[in-house]
Amino acid sequence: MTEVVSLPLTAWKDTIEAGVQARGIAALEAGNVLAFPDLRFEIDELELDLLAPRVGGKSKNISLSPRGDALKGVEGDEARARQMQAMVGRFADFAETLTRNLLQPYAGSLQRARTSFRPEEIAGRQSSWRKDDTRLHVDNFPSSPTRGKRILRVFANINPQGEPRCWRLGEPFEQLAHRYAKALPKPVWGSATVLNALGITKAPRSAYDHYMLHLHDHMKADQAYQDTAPQSVYEFQAGTTWMVFTDQVSHAATGGRCALEQTFLLPIDAMQDIERAPLRVLERLMERKLA
Ligand code: SIN
Ligand code: FE
Repeated sequence: MTEVVSLPLTAWKDTIEAGVQARGIAALEAGNVLAFPDLRFEIDELELDLLAPRVGGKSKNISLSPRGDALKGVEGDEARARQMQAMVGRFADFAETLTRNLLQPYAGSLQRARTSFRPEEIAGRQSSWRKDDTRLHVDNFPSSPTRGKRILRVFANINPQGEPRCWRLGEPFEQLAHRYAKALPKPVWGSATVLNALGITKAPRSAYDHYMLHLHDHMKADQAYQDTAPQSVYEFQAGTTWMVFTDQVSHAATGGRCALEQTFLLPIDAMQDIERAPLRVLERLMERKLA
């Protein structure tokens, strides 16, 4: 089963003991979540207002470009936007330093993607089943194919009321892939080129992206699977930081508000054990190259 492995880090920029680094990378690649219960992302007193529920209207997800220069989704005046950009940007820098220090073999290959601030309460939120992240799923990006690259995400629960962020964690990727492999439709010849030409994707979808997308959808649409799949519940307390390969680990977020999240992409040849990559797992099952 997927486990949450805790590491005793207390500061974002410290150098990290070799033994702790080795434990971290092994646990992550094996499909576990790495939690840092004592690594709090500090919010400045002046920033607390950014975490308050917005009066009138739903608070949207706010996201920052990989270079930290373009913020999307923020409502309010320019001063508020500047403050938000500073908070989210600070998290992006901290998350990148932590990731590079902890996962040194990845440092030369790690690509910073978007950073997000998630102010809204998850429980009770209305959305289509496909966008409903309270259902177990693995992550992939419908419009930004990764072509096999890993999706590594760092989260911090910055809930100002001290409320936890609640997740469900599912079965190992090998088991999951095995369960659905036969049910996933084959890519239609030429469709990746068409989707890309129409601007629906930012690069042509590989067969890997195609299968990951269908795996995501099959899991979420399968109510019996959601109810009966092997799973456990985990609460990330306020002040906790955690890190996980969300393309590999079956997860669902069921409650909580105010989290920060940093996405990284990682080419699989940077991994210690490339055979653990979802790309390799699917290639073994389907007996062909997928990217
Ligand atoms: C998700 O990646 O499914 C959502 C995680 C979260 O916002 O806690
Ligand atoms: Fe997800």
